[in-house]
Amino acid sequence: MAARRKSDTASAAPPGPAKAPACTMVIFGARGDLNKRLLTPALYNLAHDGLLADGFRILGVDHGDCDAKGLRKLLGDFLQGLAKDKNSEFGKARIDAKTWSWLAERIDYRIGDFEDAATFEGLAKVLKGKVLFYLATAPRFFGEIVEQLGKAGLLQEPAGVFRRVVIEKPFGDDLATARALNKRILKCADESQLYRIDHFLGKETIRNIMVTRFGNGVFEPLWNRQHIDNVQITAAETVGVEDRGGYYDTAGALRDMIPNHLFEVLSMVAMEPPNSFEADAVRAEKGRVMEALRVLTPAEALVDCVRGQYDAGTVDDKKVVAYRASPNVAKTSRTETFVALKLFVDNWRWSDVPFYLRTGKAMSAHVTEIAIQFKAAPRTLFQALPEGASKPNVLVLRVQPNQGISLLFDAKKPGPEVLLQDVRMDFRYADWFKSEPATGYETLLYDAFTGDQTLFKRGEDIEFAWRAVMPFLKAWEHGGDLHHYKAGQDGPKAAEALLARDGRAWLPLGA
Ligand code: BG6
Repeated sequence: MAARRKSDTASAAPPGPAKAPACTMVIFGARGDLNKRLLTPALYNLAHDGLLADGFRILGVDHGDCDAKGLRKLLGDFLQGLAKDKNSEFGKARIDAKTWSWLAERIDYRIGDFEDAATFEGLAKVLKGKVLFYLATAPRFFGEIVEQLGKAGLLQEPAGVFRRVVIEKPFGDDLATARALNKRILKCADESQLYRIDHFLGKETIRNIMVTRFGNGVFEPLWNRQHIDNVQITAAETVGVEDRGGYYDTAGALRDMIPNHLFEVLSMVAMEPPNSFEADAVRAEKGRVMEALRVLTPAEALVDCVRGQYDAGTVDDKKVVAYRASPNVAKTSRTETFVALKLFVDNWRWSDVPFYLRTGKAMSAHVTEIAIQFKAAPRTLFQALPEGASKPNVLVLRVQPNQGISLLFDAKKPGPEVLLQDVRMDFRYADWFKSEPATGYETLLYDAFTGDQTLFKRGEDIEFAWRAVMPFLKAWEHGGDLHHYKAGQDGPKAAEALLARDGRAWLPLGA
């Protein structure tokens, strides 16, 4: 993610990014959901923007009986459907036939079992030059595929050739399995070849956090324990578990969202300024934040977390069945669909500043945002006002929907009396930039093709992240309350109590 400054006049605008180098993208799990929903739309967008070279090729690998023609049709039909779906991040008026046929004619297919050495020996015969291997498979195949790639000699990089591997989440189910996976893949590949992806980092507003903090003189001087009272990171979803019960019931909200997406956001908010925007410099600073996350004892973890599970309810005027009544979910499941935690980053800048994190399914609103709540001004001048009349200033970084930034502050109500009213200043991406809807994978794929690891995770940082959430998982093994909330509510009441006992409150969802 090279740092460039765009002028607001078109004539002075610097040239756009160059085409990614020609390479073959091998997609393991080519007929799966991830490829259909996210990779192909992102590749379409990159092709549309002229960012893929003529020599770009896609080779899909999967167990299913299919051929190149069949895969092109499967992906093409799905893309058309997505384009018509107003709720999809890919929502487009129409698919440009020329762009799609440019991409489609580059798609090929091979039947292959991910655990059979013959699949990889076959690939070694046909693959020449630069290759990006994308593991869009079930996580149990990650270690195996990298090992097989290594054995088949597919990870060797003679001069001028790259061999890279993109690994999806979840990276392990806990600290031990994440460590084991890192160990296994690092025996076959160098860290510089590994691109552990987190799609949150492709989101425009998450990438904008660094620009907001370090590109402006106004925020950074206030960005510390002297001025910030607490930080709240929320990822609330209206969707329930839907047809993902099989996976979700073994994972739960914490594993699904916290050590990956929410911690990525946290590290962007909390990191020190890097010496440059070079991948190593940025990743080192983010890594230091992960390393500084306080590791609680399981007993402390129980006190500083709330987990919940949704019952039947109504979301957006639609009836939602209880989590336990969802397909492939155990009828007596104690898996959490909501979690709220209080964490600390034990370093100089953030000492004693609580970071409250919450995420949940089937909630009242779809909101991903970061609320930086500042310390209140002294009340000396406003003592006559009723308690609570003056609200703390909050800087809200909205990731979705309505990407943008708002500053909540107090103003004087017009009139003869001095009465305070909280008001907001808004910046919305959509008002300032005419950008096409994107999946977030565009940037990440482009970066992987061009060899920029800035937005990808290092093995050790994933381990630090798991280390910080292990006490919560351990505590729940032996019990701990599971609070219920109705689908369509903002999570369980106990989540409010988590902040109330510190004299604080969550910023209302979508405020
Ligand atoms: C995925 C989780 O990684 O992220 C899902 O597995 C979650 O459960 C999704 O819904 C959220 O991503 P986004 O981009 O829709 O906010």
